[in-house]
Amino acid sequence: MNGTAPRRWSRVAAVLGSALVAGSLLAPVLTAPASAADREPLRDAAERTGRTVGVALAPHLLDDPAYRSVAEREFSLVVAENAMKWDSTEPNRGTFTWGGADEVAQFAADNDAELYGHTLVWHSQLPSWVSAITDPDDLRTAMTEHVSAVAGRYAGDVTAWDVVNEAFEGDGTRRRSVFQERLGDGYIEDAFRAARAADPDARLCINDYSTDGINAKSTAIYELVRDFLARGVPIDCVGFQSHLIVGQVPSSMEANLRRFSDLGIDVRITELDIRTTTPPTPAALERQAADYRTVVEACLAVTRCDGVTLWGVSDANSWIPGVFPGQGAALLWDEDYATKPAYTAVADALGAGTVDPGPDPTEEPTDPGPDPDPTGPPATSTCEVAFTRHAWDTGFTAALTFTNTGTEPLTGWSLTFDMPAGQSLTQGWSGTWSQTGRTVTVAAPAWATDVAPGGSVSTGFNASHSGDASVPETFEANGVACAVR
Ligand code: G3I
Repeated sequence: MNGTAPRRWSRVAAVLGSALVAGSLLAPVLTAPASAADREPLRDAAERTGRTVGVALAPHLLDDPAYRSVAEREFSLVVAENAMKWDSTEPNRGTFTWGGADEVAQFAADNDAELYGHTLVWHSQLPSWVSAITDPDDLRTAMTEHVSAVAGRYAGDVTAWDVVNEAFEGDGTRRRSVFQERLGDGYIEDAFRAARAADPDARLCINDYSTDGINAKSTAIYELVRDFLARGVPIDCVGFQSHLIVGQVPSSMEANLRRFSDLGIDVRITELDIRTTTPPTPAALERQAADYRTVVEACLAVTRCDGVTLWGVSDANSWIPGVFPGQGAALLWDEDYATKPAYTAVADALGAGTVDPGPDPTEEPTDPGPDPDPTGPPATSTCEVAFTRHAWDTGFTAALTFTNTGTEPLTGWSLTFDMPAGQSLTQGWSGTWSQTGRTVTVAAPAWATDVAPGGSVSTGFNASHSGDASVPETFEANGVACAVR
């Protein structure tokens, strides 16, 4: 079925940061907590760590501007919440329907996001015609034809597939699915081989729930991976769904991710949500935020953890209340698409830059009193820069907070400064960075083009040096000299 319809999607550019970057950066210095509009998008912050932040997408919700704008702004990976599953793509044998799956693929391409495939072989959301097959050879043929058709259609676009989903029971035995019952243990590797043949470039993952900590089920998958690697069965990654409960993040989560990473395969948090009793109390939301931070930090601490995917955008459209009545509020945005403490926690964990909007402009300005340092900043100064850096023998990471100390908003700002001789910009964030000669310019990022009076922006960069790691002496914002703090 591959190629039966014109395919419109195509990836414009890879958005993955280099894995070499992972772990080598310091987070930008943060100022006061802010709303989503005042934070660097999660995807940009994650990119600095060499990771992606993903979301499960339901294409019918893209008509909602609130849903769409969050999905477009924040995520560098999308996965179809349901649209690539067997019942959506092959509801009748040999008849393929690609509508929703193609919409998700197109959204990924349009937004320069990775496309993650979920899922090729799963006992759930399986059309009844599959479950009705009793002949093992016929079932194996149906399975491999399905894998070939779906993985083949998105070959070159999907970067990783959940080839087999939820194949194990909690005690580590094989789930007695129709595939296991009719085909035996070998069905998993048959599916992986078919996926590799259909899309040689996609990474092939096994995915499951309640495997987030070290337990019988995750150990069974660990042993399967070891066996596959030893026998040359194609497998590249393991997905940990992480449908968690507030206050119950497994203490062994990081160690669990690390033991898989140490096998030389990639790991990912694939379906993260952290549910609580609804309506949530403020204390539960704070605890949830801490739990989200723990999960993201566990991924960041593990070399081959390539990112975290949220299983939905807002609490308004999560699967949880339908399955766990009285539970929910599990995501980063509430039912009105307002960010929750959990959003701030994830942004903080990723080191997302912050814009401090400054004092409320409707309030009476306070008298600044006499100038405490009449020899300091020029009288005309309307900005102030705080510059800190962490240096080593050949380079440094600099954090820079720039405050509008004037009375007018700074619109479309850019900041320039001269670096000491021998210093060379290697990478900047929270803004567009460039260097000409010794002059470095950072232009406003799209999420912080305006800085209100009293407001500030945190940004930063990495640079190399040839022995002199001293700091710049002067800064100008829109051509006006800033005070240096
Ligand atoms: O599309 C039909 C619609 O035609 C019908 O009118 C409606 C009536 O209930 O149902 C619709 O199908 C629903 C489907 O989502 C699409 O919205 C199913 O009932 C509903 O069961 C299904 O739930 C999905 C669930 O997987 C199925 O097991 C959830 O949205 C989805 O979030 C959830 O995702 C799974 C992952 O794939 C694997 N890991 C666990 C995770 C949570 O269960």
